[in-house]
Amino acid sequence: MTAIYEHLFPMYREQAGLPDQDRIDWLRRDRWISLPQADAALERLEDLLTYPQRGRMPCLLLFGSTGMGKSEIVNRFAEMHSPAYDVSSGIAAMPVVVVQMPPEPSDEEFYIELLRAMNYADLGHFTARGLRALAHRCLAEFGVKILILDEIDKMLAGTPRQQRVFLNTVRFLTNDLRIPIVCAGTEDARIAVLTDPNLADRFGAFELVPWRNDHALRQLMASFSGLLPLQRPSVLDVQDVRQRVLALTGGITGRIFRLVEAAAIAAIRNGREMIDASSLDDDDLLLPLLSMQVVAGNRRAVYRRRA
Ligand SMILES: Nc1ncnc2c1ncn2[C@@H]1O[C@H](COP(=O)(O)OP(=O)(O)O)[C@@H](O)[C@H]1O
Ligand SMILES: [Mg+2]
Repeated sequence: MTAIYEHLFPMYREQAGLPDQDRIDWLRRDRWISLPQADAALERLEDLLTYPQRGRMPCLLLFGSTGMGKSEIVNRFAEMHSPAYDVSSGIAAMPVVVVQMPPEPSDEEFYIELLRAMNYADLGHFTARGLRALAHRCLAEFGVKILILDEIDKMLAGTPRQQRVFLNTVRFLTNDLRIPIVCAGTEDARIAVLTDPNLADRFGAFELVPWRNDHALRQLMASFSGLLPLQRPSVLDVQDVRQRVLALTGGITGRIFRLVEAAAIAAIRNGREMIDASSLDDDDLLLPLLSMQVVAGNRRAVYRRRA
């Protein structure tokens, strides 16, 4: 007789019956989960996509700490608007392009990344000017409607002059192409972009705020209980667990996901098949998370000194 696992959402029940290793593999796989802030950010991006073309296009800064889910959001958005090939015209349309900022914030490196994002390779023989011309032409020909620059804080590795030059490039791109540009990055990146007076008034901002002990977190915990492939019901939607999760993760989305995933894998391996407050006391499980927190703590100390 097969078990029914009524504690799980119907579409996740079958997973719970799989062999241990399959369930562990499943837990480790990346999957998009709809979260309130992420959904709101996607809506903002959607608004930009349908914005009528005019002289000054609005831009958006998506910012928040590392691990809050910025890259997940922009990649999800690109997936929702994936390239389509129009057979009759023979033209491929690419409504959304996501570019990773290069480690070195030079125009040349940036345009190479941009062209890579549009599937161009072998660009070694181009001059900086040639790269720029090609990139602009491709953006127009592919009908790109939104350009997203992820990890914009990498720009801060450059000298103040390089940063100014790069911000000029951003301004030039949005003016020339008349498309909105979205910059995703940390709080530091927000400050850098907004100190450029020419950009400040055209960039709206959307902040991904760390989780708090509120209704949204309760919902998140409840949905973990319903989808983790564990054979017994977990007890996650209780005050104890919420407080402990926040204390261990600082409310950072990625750390919450890693913590719950690690606890679920441990529950499969040790045969408990459920997670509750006591699962979060396991040292082996917490060690990697604590080291992340020490790093984050040091960074906060640096900010305070600078302020
Ligand atoms: N909506 C989501 N669905 C599933 N996993 C998510 C989601 N948002 C964040 N995560 C998890 O958090 C981790 C960090 O997210 P990421 O987008 O890389 O953060 P950031 O770009 O802000 O540093 C991801 O690897 C993923 O595991
Ligand atoms: Mg990222």
